[in-house]
Amino acid sequence: MNERFARDGFLIIPDFKNAGEIAALRERAAAIVDAFDPAQSSAVFTTREEAKTKSEAYFLTSGQTIRCFFEEEAFDASGALRQPKELSINKIGHAMHDLDPVFERFSRDPRLHDLAREIGVAQPRVYQSMYIFKQPRIGGEVRWHQDATYFETEPVTVTTLWFALERADRTNGCLWVQRGGHRTPLRERFVVDAAGSRLERVDETPWPSDEGAEPVEVEAGTLVVFHGLLPHYSAPNRSETSRHAYTLHFVDAGARYAATNWLQRSAAFPARGFV
Ligand code: FE2
Repeated sequence: MNERFARDGFLIIPDFKNAGEIAALRERAAAIVDAFDPAQSSAVFTTREEAKTKSEAYFLTSGQTIRCFFEEEAFDASGALRQPKELSINKIGHAMHDLDPVFERFSRDPRLHDLAREIGVAQPRVYQSMYIFKQPRIGGEVRWHQDATYFETEPVTVTTLWFALERADRTNGCLWVQRGGHRTPLRERFVVDAAGSRLERVDETPWPSDEGAEPVEVEAGTLVVFHGLLPHYSAPNRSETSRHAYTLHFVDAGARYAATNWLQRSAAFPARGFV
């Protein structure tokens, strides 16, 4: 087991991806957004309640697809986009690594297989990919959370790979982490069952204070690896520059994957490893 990872709950690996690889991924993401018709998403609904129900369904059925999601602040009161479409998308998710050849090339990397094994995940299975735009001015905040909330396995094995596709710093909404916080309990579970979807509080341990948060300021090409229990957040992006990142979430095939996790793979579309 990598000692630094065991101690801190995260690793920062500069220059993991080169400029050409980053450019290819960015170009492909731009093409997906260009082809995206906002009418397919939760964009245009008459009532708040209808919007909520439809956007939830749009999310919950996206695990085996490639879909675009809007920033919360993308629309004004009249329902019109405040910025051009390409500057209004919050993210693309959640199976590009299996469905899109350009994303697949970026995601299937033997070095990631070795890395997974080095941090104790013997049989990595990649369940989710997300291209996160963190748009200029409206890039939304993501409050304190642990990624294991969304990928419950017994034991906890979910690990996040966070690739910086642009420089990320305090001005444009970089990641903030609690060093060593992966040794604290899981606070919340996101559960989907017959009764619907909900966030359940399972432990009353408070989230870290502001003083307990450490900014992860990195250059494009850096890979940040973090443990599924590491508390982290990112602030809104009020700057004039975007902060693109690409993330992958993998679990160990040897662990029990909860049937109540929102993201389920069908037998015909199993999660695969890095090689
Ligand atoms: Fe996260």
